[in-house]
Amino acid sequence: MKTTKWPQRLPIWAVGYQTGAYLSLSLAADGSIMEPRKFFNFFLGVTLAFAPVNGAYDKERDALLKGTFPQDFIWSSATAAYQIEGAWNVSDKGPSIWDTLAHQGRVNNQDTGDVACDSYHKYPEDVALMKQMGLKYYRFSISWPRIFPTGEQQDGVNQDGVDYYNRLIDELIVNDIQPMVTLFHWDLPQVLQDRYGGFLNNHTNTTVIHDLFGDYARFLYQNYGDRVKYWITFNEPWITAWLGYGIGNFAPQHNEPAEGQYKAAHNIILSHAKAYHIYDDEFRAAQGGQVGITLNCDWGTPKTPADADAALRYVQFFLGWFAHPIYKNGDYPEVMKTTMARKAQEEGRTTSRLPEFTPEQKLSISGTGDFFGLNHYTTVEVTDACCTPIENPNYDTDKDVGTGHAPDWPRAASSWLYVVPWGIRNLLGFIKEEYGDPEIYVTENGRSDHDQDPAIMMDMERICYYMMYTNEVMKASNMDNVKVKAYTAWSLLDNFEWLSGYSERFGLHYVDFNDPTRTRYPKASSVFFKQLVRNNGYPEGSEFTKYVENMWYFCHNTTEAEVNGYTGGASQISSLFSLFLAIPMMIAYSLIA
Ligand code: BGC
Repeated sequence: MKTTKWPQRLPIWAVGYQTGAYLSLSLAADGSIMEPRKFFNFFLGVTLAFAPVNGAYDKERDALLKGTFPQDFIWSSATAAYQIEGAWNVSDKGPSIWDTLAHQGRVNNQDTGDVACDSYHKYPEDVALMKQMGLKYYRFSISWPRIFPTGEQQDGVNQDGVDYYNRLIDELIVNDIQPMVTLFHWDLPQVLQDRYGGFLNNHTNTTVIHDLFGDYARFLYQNYGDRVKYWITFNEPWITAWLGYGIGNFAPQHNEPAEGQYKAAHNIILSHAKAYHIYDDEFRAAQGGQVGITLNCDWGTPKTPADADAALRYVQFFLGWFAHPIYKNGDYPEVMKTTMARKAQEEGRTTSRLPEFTPEQKLSISGTGDFFGLNHYTTVEVTDACCTPIENPNYDTDKDVGTGHAPDWPRAASSWLYVVPWGIRNLLGFIKEEYGDPEIYVTENGRSDHDQDPAIMMDMERICYYMMYTNEVMKASNMDNVKVKAYTAWSLLDNFEWLSGYSERFGLHYVDFNDPTRTRYPKASSVFFKQLVRNNGYPEGSEFTKYVENMWYFCHNTTEAEVNGYTGGASQISSLFSLFLAIPMMIAYSLIA
């Protein structure tokens, strides 16, 4: 579909501009000029990817908002231990469930995180990259088995691992970068999975896994809390619960899709509450930091007005599953409880597959977030699918919805990632209304490219993604009064993208995984992001904002003339100029300068 309008629109002079622009872009990752055949493929690929389509742009909804974020707005970038550290078995580090899964050859291309970006050794370079971009915050995670090899403190502490994070944190502080630390980004110690079933451990009462997570949290607060003021207990428990213990494609690959995810989520929520209270009771007064959790959610937009309730149900089953207990009232959303109770009846069960919290547990869970961490990437269109009886129920069918994508939503390399910038504004508004106007930290947002040869260094689509999504975040902040305090780009570096291995690249910096020294190269998006941070948004009249204005329609896969009507040719020329020449050249120039 994207290609059909292209030849009709492109005047011959623009072809010249285009060729010139892409020639200026045709550098391989090592800076050499590409071979003609590679260049032709590259040229074709980029041309097809960027050919405009009609229809997606909504003049009111998608217009560029000029202005800046509040003065104290936090700009950050994020990584996670297993995805970047490597050094999987140095000193006494224990194996995690992701080491196990990768070593069983279950990742695309049999990739592993054994070396990854080698940040265990190269962290000073990573910090230097952040410094270069003007970032003042860095979100990273600590590997539990690097601290306690078995997951249990009583079995021993890996002092080298403790020292590693001390060095990293010190390096950040010296460079005036605040650490935001995630305690758990999916790399559970394998021993805890083997000994206790991981997060499936006896899910209804106080269980070992809550206490063990509490001990681990306490140890981190004790050792790093003098310098770390932002703690995130869990990253995306939805993924651990559903992909890890429900559908079972992610580690630890436990396949129990009717109930596994509900049990695991229950344990994670209780473990989170435990870690929160430990900070509150033992550390907050002396350390003065904040503790929250990071939840992921795709926005669900109704396909037709009749699907509005279904879309809400979709978001409640996704975000509300964790957010409702933690940020609202200690318990699961009503719609989840009633839906699951009805299903229990239909399935002839005496109890719901969704576990219940005791009154004491509800009290201890409610209000355990000093901020609301949000990871958001994409949006789905939701249709109502209520209420067909299902023979083998699972979390997906429990929601009684169908999901799809509008045909004009552009796609990233990851199969699930459709680019729908306005979705984040809707989601932020939903969180404000639903959870009592919390302070929201966007702890991840970003876009993937394929790993391809030649490398995508002029990553225009990522620039567009950041431009459009951050502008929507600014609309939420400045127009809708959502208390958004932070925006975090995923990711600082290309890294180990879980089951996709190194085949999908989310980085602001390119990492050469064939190079034993794992050299990092800035992509064009890192230059863009640096300017965004420096401008704290899109201030009226700045050079940066003018550049963004020139890019705006191109990024939305349309032209100014299509949106505002043909006004004598100038707008068409300006839009083509920015599309084919000005933008790539400006970026190339900034990279060299
Ligand atoms: C995760 C990251 C992951 C990213 C892109 C988030 O779900 O927290 O670890 O790399 O999405 O898939």
